[in-house]
Amino acid sequence: MVFNRAEVFNAYLEGILMADDGLDLAPPRGMRDFPPDAILLRDKIFNAWTKASTEAGFLKYDAPVVENFDLLARKAGEEVADQIYVFSDKSDRRLALRPEATPSLVRIITGNKHKVLFPAKWWTIAQCFRYERTTKGRKREHYQWNLDIIGEPSIMAEAWILAAAVNALKLLGLGPDDVKIRFNHRKLITALLTEIGIAEASHLDVLLILDKQGKVEVPALVQMLVEKGISKEIAETIFNRLTTLHTDVANGENLSGPQKEISDFLNYGMALGIGDYLCFDPGVVRGLAYYTGIVFEAFDAGRELRAVFGGGRYDNLFSDMTGEARCAVGLGFGDVVLGELLEAKKLAEVKTTIPACVGSFDKSLESDAAVLAKNIISAGVSADVLLSAGGPKKFFQYADRRGARFAVLLAPDEFKSGLALIKELGTGEQTKVPIAEVPAWLAGKAVKP
Ligand code: HAM
Repeated sequence: MVFNRAEVFNAYLEGILMADDGLDLAPPRGMRDFPPDAILLRDKIFNAWTKASTEAGFLKYDAPVVENFDLLARKAGEEVADQIYVFSDKSDRRLALRPEATPSLVRIITGNKHKVLFPAKWWTIAQCFRYERTTKGRKREHYQWNLDIIGEPSIMAEAWILAAAVNALKLLGLGPDDVKIRFNHRKLITALLTEIGIAEASHLDVLLILDKQGKVEVPALVQMLVEKGISKEIAETIFNRLTTLHTDVANGENLSGPQKEISDFLNYGMALGIGDYLCFDPGVVRGLAYYTGIVFEAFDAGRELRAVFGGGRYDNLFSDMTGEARCAVGLGFGDVVLGELLEAKKLAEVKTTIPACVGSFDKSLESDAAVLAKNIISAGVSADVLLSAGGPKKFFQYADRRGARFAVLLAPDEFKSGLALIKELGTGEQTKVPIAEVPAWLAGKAVKP
């Protein structure tokens, strides 16, 4: 059965792609397949993440996709902890697909603490799984670039991480008019909650509800707070007071506490050239319980999409999980919203190209074509070959769709004179070159991959 692209896409959305025998051919709901064109875009994103990480001195690490459930589950019921894919293995171990990379990072750093150079700047690209409602920008599987600095109390760590993230955005063609990094400080919010009279024991519940600002309307958020035992009047005061934080923050002399940290953050950010991307937003709270200081979330400037990336300082997670205190700051940057943003800005176009494609006019020259392709590859030039001859028209069409710069055809008349026909597909220019010299000729055209 043959499907056209539109059918596949529609069926993907509706999850109804069925083979004749009734086998469901769509990927599991919320998961993605990556045919070659999708891989090209993914690679473009991964390459920018990799370059930005290594340029900024981060070291790469990796961890298994399958984790111990206990490492991931948190006491405070957060959305992410509730969205974990969990299962038991044949020995009844409770395992899970990781929803994020941070708990694994804590484990690896702790397990290798004698070898680790602190402050540690580490990065990874982790495929993460969350059983959440699939909407635009949110899937049940995504790749997440993580940048973390462990053991550095200076707020310069926040600025350094964000400068690396901005570098990745720039490498992909996104500037400060496309993306804004909205930041806040958890302690500003918790100080406000204390001032309003909300007991510390309820702060986390309130923070996790405040994190839904922008996704859920304020009256519904007030109702959620009421359900957590907060009076309607106090709940409304929280939202009124949040808006006034704009003017309070980081103003004046002799700053201390979160105001001082915000002021330092802005100064460091400016010094590292990312000032244009930064804007204070009291609505940014972050939906993970472990953040303790500056928190940030990047959005497209038009606020049409979900968060592009998010993170912040988490100075207590190491001590909570391992009993050993270590300060830390980090971010998670997913590929899904980024892909949507690149598509919207017409920056997502990617092409499969190859320097050379070899083919033959008829069956008698198929083997010579394959050998010539092999020799071209040995000369350091990547080459594809049309393995079965089907005439010149079919060959040139194939070479064109394959994105070849040069199409090299073995045809009977030229072959008798020891020549190959080379066509530069972009210009249509044709040349005859002795077959033995084709590899060097192509290498000389600087068409190495
Ligand atoms: P997070 O905000 O849960 O943070 O996720 C970070 C980013 O991952 C989001 O901004 C988004 O780009 C992407 N993302 C998350 N869930 C999905 C989804 N269902 N579909 C598509 N993309 C998604 C964390 O995970 C923290 N562990 C980040 C961190 C690292 N904090 C410190 N170090």
